[in-house]
Amino acid sequence: MSERTDATVSTPADTKLPGLIWGVKGSFVRYVSGTGGDVRVAEGAASVDGLLFFPLLDQSDFELATARGTIRFGGNVHFSGHFGALDLTLAEPWLESDERGAVISADTGVAGRVPLVALGGAETLLEGEHIVWAEVETRMLPDAAPLFNGVYGTGERFDALTLRVLAR
Ligand code: HEM
Repeated sequence: MSERTDATVSTPADTKLPGLIWGVKGSFVRYVSGTGGDVRVAEGAASVDGLLFFPLLDQSDFELATARGTIRFGGNVHFSGHFGALDLTLAEPWLESDERGAVISADTGVAGRVPLVALGGAETLLEGEHIVWAEVETRMLPDAAPLFNGVYGTGERFDALTLRVLAR
């Protein structure tokens, strides 16, 4: 089962669930739509207020005190266009953080898991039982370039994202 992201599949309140909220890259989403293609979410990912929502799956390999480790999110998004010539899946995004910084990677199927973007600094907000890192800037990493046909250069700005995890 997959759903087009222009369908209303969730209420705005769902953005308060733990997960990753991200538009990936607005100009790319608009471009894909312009090619007559579409953007579909599946496997628990959803479209919320025009953004993609990937639910929190597992944060047991992440240490909140040091902000190091891996947080796994579920679901996938599939971009298709140009009558199938453009065919990109980003599945099960992970936040991977170590002393060099934090990145978001995703399973692309054919190309395996690829580090997509590096994250900028973020303020840690405590919201009830959740920790939220909001509007975190992202910049494309070199390994992601082929996924986008080599159109974007390393460091290209992608959309800012928001991470919501459990504060325990
Ligand atoms: C039939 C093959 C393709 C043709 C004819 C084509 C053509 C184009 C054209 C004309 C543009 C400029 C459009 C604009 O600025 O509005 C563009 C942009 C772009 N194309 Fe393609 N393309 C093709 C395949 C692909 C594939 C396979 C990908 C892989 C994801 C891709 C990714 C992109 C990206 C990322 C942009 C820039 C979008 C943006 O951020 O503005 N293209 N393409």
